Amino acid sequence: MKEALQQIKDTATSQLKEITDLQELDNLRVKFLGKKGELTNILKQMGKLSAEERPAMGQLANQVREFLENEVAAKQELLKKAAMEQKLKLETIDVTMPGTKVEKGHKHPLNIVLDDIKEIFIGMGFEIAEGPEIETDYYNFEALNLPKNHPARDTQDTFYISENMLLRTQTSPVQIRVMENKKPPIRIIAPGRVYRSDAVDATHSPVFHQIEGLVVDKNITMADLKGCLEAVVKKIYGESAVIRFRPHHFPFTEPSAEVDLQCFNCHGEGCRICKGEGWIEILGCGMVHPKVLSNCGINPEEYSGFAFGIGLERLVMGRYSIDDMRMFYENDVRFLSQF
Ligand code: DAH
Repeated sequence: MKEALQQIKDTATSQLKEITDLQELDNLRVKFLGKKGELTNILKQMGKLSAEERPAMGQLANQVREFLENEVAAKQELLKKAAMEQKLKLETIDVTMPGTKVEKGHKHPLNIVLDDIKEIFIGMGFEIAEGPEIETDYYNFEALNLPKNHPARDTQDTFYISENMLLRTQTSPVQIRVMENKKPPIRIIAPGRVYRSDAVDATHSPVFHQIEGLVVDKNITMADLKGCLEAVVKKIYGESAVIRFRPHHFPFTEPSAEVDLQCFNCHGEGCRICKGEGWIEILGCGMVHPKVLSNCGINPEEYSGFAFGIGLERLVMGRYSIDDMRMFYENDVRFLSQF
């Protein structure tokens, strides 16, 4: 038995030396020291010994167990330390390496121009007004003198949330909301997103932006409208910018006009961008219809006003000579980083 114990001690010790990872070490521990291990097997045979032999042999067995347990623990400590060192080595950070640069964003071209326009109008005494993008039929059409079944509604088809709720097709409803809540003198612009059932092409998008304008006071005339818009266009495009007023019809203004900017690309010659016209329509305008004033509780005998609706995208395209509106919405950094 003594030899058997010595044998276990020697084999375990020499096998222990070969071990390189924690799993192997555990296997070895089970093999020699576990409940069904070799040492336990030996101890089970103690019963066969004489009463005199037993204490000495028990003592020896315990010594062997203690020795092996210590060896295993020491080896475990060693392997853990080595594993940690290996891990640290793999995770070393070279603090002298260049870092990843965080690119700073900037304003979108639509917002660059919108902010300029706001600045211009604020300088002329206007305030900024806002209205909801989900509008009621009343504000988007009815109050603007576009009753149900009015043919002009056809050109402004949109997404209807319900019979009476829709995505606004224009920023003009903000005029009504402002006039309902504020007595003249009124001088506001209302920039915002609008929606139409339009197919996407170089100059159309189902979602785009308008800037509404409204001035209501005593003795406001068409001359004020022309003077105001000319001053604004020249501030945006420079003194050499050419615009023209063309008679038009809007149900909420009377008289009405459309304003065209001479094509920035061909200077009036006609090209793809202006569809051969030489001019690009940038806004609609007119004198606020008396019915619209009365709809909002303003006496048209006492007050008059002018209004306009600018298409922001077209304005920005003109300013930067961009020939495709889709560029604004595609988020291509090669395009955006140029501004
Ligand atoms: N809301 C019109 C449109 O989307 C544009 C417009 C025209 C606005 C004349 C006005 C206006 O305020 O007076 O086509």
